[in-house]
Amino acid sequence: MTGTFITFEGGEGAGKSTHIRLVADHLKSKGHAVVVTREPGGTEQGEGVRALLVTGDVRRWTPMAEALLNYAARDAHLNTVIRPALAAGKIVLCDRFMDSTRAYQGYAGGLDLAFIDELERRVVGRTVPRLTLIFDLDPVDGLRRARQRGEGAPAAAEDRFEHKELVFHQRLRDGFRAIAEADPGRCRVVDATRSLAVVGADVLGHVMDAVDG
Ligand code: TMP
Repeated sequence: MTGTFITFEGGEGAGKSTHIRLVADHLKSKGHAVVVTREPGGTEQGEGVRALLVTGDVRRWTPMAEALLNYAARDAHLNTVIRPALAAGKIVLCDRFMDSTRAYQGYAGGLDLAFIDELERRVVGRTVPRLTLIFDLDPVDGLRRARQRGEGAPAAAEDRFEHKELVFHQRLRDGFRAIAEADPGRCRVVDATRSLAVVGADVLGHVMDAVDG
C-alpha cells in the first residue's frame, strides 16, 4: 500500500501552516491516517538543523551551506518519517519540502539549479510529492503578515529569512511560480490573498483530488 505525499510551499507569511492544520483535521474526520510534518525539521536531527538555519544573523550561512544543511535534514526526514509513513499507506502533509530549497537557495539565493537537481535526484529520488500547493502572495503583504505573527515571539525568533531584502523575496515568488510552471502535473498555485475560507475550500478541493485520484 502506498500513501499520498502532499507538500505545502510558498514565501513568508502566506498561511500554509494554518491550511495544513485545517486539511489535517478534515482528513482525520474522514477517517484517514495523517502525518503532519515540516522542513527543515520533522525529526530530532532535522529540528536541530532547523534551529541553526532559521535563527541568527542573516549572513550566517551561504546559500550552498543552507542547501546542504536542508538536504542533510531532508535525508533523515525521508528515511525515518516520510517513506515509512507512505509505505504504511498514510497521507503525509509536509510544510515545505524540496521546492523550498530550489526557490530559496536556487532562484532567490543564486545557487546553481543543476546542483539542486542533483541533490533532488540523489536524496528525494522517487519520493516526489503527488501534489504540491504553492501559496502565492505579494511578498510585501507576506512579510507584513509574518512580522505581525512574530510580534511578542521569544528572542530566538525563527525570522532569519524574513530579514533578507525585498528583492530576495520577489525572486523567491518568481521562483515558486517557475517551479509550478515547470511541473503543472504536480503543482497548483493557490492565490493566498483571498479570505481564509475561500483559500481553504480551494486547498481542500486540490487535496481531495489527490487523495481520491
Ligand atoms: P517556515 O517554514 O516556518 O516559514 O520556516 C522555514 C524557513 O526555512 C523559511 O524561511 C524557508 C527556509 N527554508 C529554506 O531556505 N530552504 C529549505 O529547503 C527549507 C525547507 C526551508
